[in-house]
Amino acid sequence: MFKGVLFDLDGVITDTAEYHYRAWKKLGEEIGITIDRAFNEQLKGVSREDSLSRMLAYGNKENQFSAEEFAEMAQRKNNYYVEMIQAITPADVYPGILDLLKDLKSAGKKISLASASKNGPFLLNKMEIEDYFDAIADPASVKAGKPAPDIFVLAATKVGLTAEECIGVEDAKAGIEAIKASGALPIGVGRAEDLGTDIALVSDTSKLSVDYLTGQWTDSTHGN
Ligand code: BG6
Ligand code: MG
Repeated sequence: MFKGVLFDLDGVITDTAEYHYRAWKKLGEEIGITIDRAFNEQLKGVSREDSLSRMLAYGNKENQFSAEEFAEMAQRKNNYYVEMIQAITPADVYPGILDLLKDLKSAGKKISLASASKNGPFLLNKMEIEDYFDAIADPASVKAGKPAPDIFVLAATKVGLTAEECIGVEDAKAGIEAIKASGALPIGVGRAEDLGTDIALVSDTSKLSVDYLTGQWTDSTHGN
């Protein structure tokens, strides 16, 4: 049976994926790159710097900025984002997540954060759920961001487990790829057209429960 759950944050624990999108869109408008929600799927789960690189490539502007300008734009996007998340409260935790965290704790499962965001600890604190987490994997300390497996491997290691012993929960294509590469069992929150048809999917977080995770584990190759 699985021994731990590795959680993505943005778009899984709360609706901050929307704020990341709005902050990138605002920066994009200022530098002459128009992005939409379809393109944004390629930014979900991806680190701040990699997201900016993808956006500049999308706008055919990848060679137009110096390293200093690049850093300033990444910082500017983060400033917009940080301003938006100041008002987050415990009421912003997605449906079903608090019960899931409590039930996982009661069931003796480890809970670890595998977010690419450097704002993760701030958000857990704002939502008052940091005490449920046995560990937070620091995205600054991994070599490669999602879709590479590093952050999920680190999140598992930090709670004394291997990724193979864990379930990973993600709302992003890059995150699902990272979970698969880590050896953990992926569970997606979202649509098959965005996340693929080959993994367990829930349409929203209210469908996530220990029973659901247990069922998915048992039905998968992990359970055999
Ligand atoms: C991920 C988000 O969780 O964190 C991405 O899905 C974001 O959209 C990435 O770019 C990095 O976040 P931050 O807060 O460190 O810029
Ligand atoms: Mg996410």
